[in-house]
Amino acid sequence: MSKEENKLQHLAVIMDGNGRWAQKRGLPRSMGHRKGAEVVKEITRAAAELGIRYLTLYAFSTENWKRSKDEVDTLMGLLREYLKSDLKEIQEKNVRIRFIGERDMLAGDIVEKMAQIEADTANNTDMTLCIALSYGSRQEIVSAVRKTAALVKSGDISINDIDVELFSDMLYTQNMPDPDLVIRTSGERRISNYLLWQIAYSEFYFSDILWPDFTKEALENIIKDFNQRERRYGKA
Ligand code: IPE
Ligand code: IPE
Ligand code: MG
Repeated sequence: MSKEENKLQHLAVIMDGNGRWAQKRGLPRSMGHRKGAEVVKEITRAAAELGIRYLTLYAFSTENWKRSKDEVDTLMGLLREYLKSDLKEIQEKNVRIRFIGERDMLAGDIVEKMAQIEADTANNTDMTLCIALSYGSRQEIVSAVRKTAALVKSGDISINDIDVELFSDMLYTQNMPDPDLVIRTSGERRISNYLLWQIAYSEFYFSDILWPDFTKEALENIIKDFNQRERRYGKA
């Protein structure tokens, strides 16, 4: 598939099924997460090649903190490895990295590294890779309500200034277009607290493939399906 064939500007993915992938092979769940992290790199590369401008990946939800300490430690370890890995390819591909989510839940060294990567890639313009980490959409909306209320209280805005655009700017995803398509892998058909505000008019694709088995080819087939869809936004 060429860049011209792809009509997708913003792709959001719920990368699900790492645990089941490992369990099917008699491996510990951690091995599924490890393979899943490799697929993150492959799919980021594929998205850049396809000319996708925004790729938002659900890496860890606020609810995922409820998993066992062992599993959370594994995921945080993989995250550290990813953050400390060579960013040469990201820079060469002109990719900007952004993180969305509740940073105060994360360890200090991770938060520092995230800020550094965001600063180092801030001027890259071909693609934005947005990583949802310790992310929960309801929490994001509540935090946006707080920011908006503070602006009213300080007198910077009046209540009548609050509209869809202003409120969108209070979310972690400020200045990003809404996702055109949300893909969830692993056969689950739910949203799990992901981008609730932003997906108002997104298309959905639920794939049975487990995330560690997901490929560029699978992505291209889903984009072909997306390209056939008619989006009406309420119009006749
Ligand atoms: C997705 O895979 C990764 C995270 C949620 C961090 P899961 O770990 O949810 O895998 P399953 O759903 O148990 O197979
Ligand atoms: C959603 O997957 C979160 C991520 C993929 C990071 P989960 O596996 O945590 O979602 P539920 O619990 O099945 O809804
Ligand atoms: Mg899951």
